[in-house]
Amino acid sequence: MSGNDRIVFIGAGNMAEALVRGLVKSGVPPQSVTVTDLREERRDYFRASFGVSASADNCEAVRGAGVVVLAVKPQQFAAVLESLKGAAPGALIISIAAGITTGRIEAALGSGTRVVRVMPNTPALVGAGVSALCAGASAGSDDLAVAERLLAAVGATVRVEEAQMDAVTAVSGSGPAYIFRVMEAMEQAGVVLGLSAGVARELVLGTVMGAAQLARESGRAPSELREQVTSKGGTTEAALRVLNERDLAGAFSAALAAAAARSRELAGGA
Ligand SMILES: NC(=O)c1ccc[n+]([C@@H]2O[C@H](COP(=O)([O-])OP(=O)(O)OC[C@H]3O[C@@H](n4cnc5c(N)ncnc54)[C@H](OP(=O)(O)O)[C@@H]3O)[C@@H](O)[C@H]2O)c1
Repeated sequence: MSGNDRIVFIGAGNMAEALVRGLVKSGVPPQSVTVTDLREERRDYFRASFGVSASADNCEAVRGAGVVVLAVKPQQFAAVLESLKGAAPGALIISIAAGITTGRIEAALGSGTRVVRVMPNTPALVGAGVSALCAGASAGSDDLAVAERLLAAVGATVRVEEAQMDAVTAVSGSGPAYIFRVMEAMEQAGVVLGLSAGVARELVLGTVMGAAQLARESGRAPSELREQVTSKGGTTEAALRVLNERDLAGAFSAALAAAAARSRELAGGA
């Protein structure tokens, strides 16, 4: 972040904690960060852990802020937007709430409000997230750049169109859970084959992390890397044949379509 811009987080929950930790670690001065929360213990925790200011008054906290990050649950959004009406004119609003459109925030805070919407994911909690960002009607490329710098404190960032946010939610927002499901299944299968639970977990964890790192560092497509390790008549080929017969690709395609459909429903208030 640059200059004297004050950053205010509305909602001192898990995601705000990940972001504040990342920002302070990356050199943002704690005195330029304020969090708000209804719960006193969260305010105390943030003050003690990160040296930032904490308040229970949203309206007061955002006065003069350069950036306001909305980090409450979607069901708490209406109350938060109400509390911020007219309170931070000129501030860039960054929302990390699933399913809340930039249009809804602009309608509540006034047309012309600069809004950037972000879909992060839980690996942000350990600085290994990936966030997709899109701009609302009045936010420009500079605003996206400010939001990108903020989210870069907890992982990678990509820019998308808002119409793609349901797809983003299906791929990376909910995505960590699919990988956890695959890990669970591999662990169980390893135990069935005679490994101890501890050894199976260590092998699966190392394999998933190693495969992701190899894919990133080699720059090669997953399909190419898969072909490289699949020798004719070998063990990998035997396993992949079973996964293909059971239509793994079809299962993922249907699963992600279900997640995207649910994301659209939630955005509509269902
Ligand atoms: N966690 C994830 O994996 C993830 C991933 C992608 C996106 N997100 C989005 O990130 C947002 C935050 O998620 P989270 O997991 O960090 O939620 P969280 O832990 O529930 O944090 C929200 C915090 O805001 C407080 N709060 C509620 N109403 C408030 C108000 N009017 N003013 C100030 N603070 C208020 C809550 O207090 P109470 O507990 O007392 O209500 C809570 O401490 C959500 O919109 C979610 O969709 C999360």
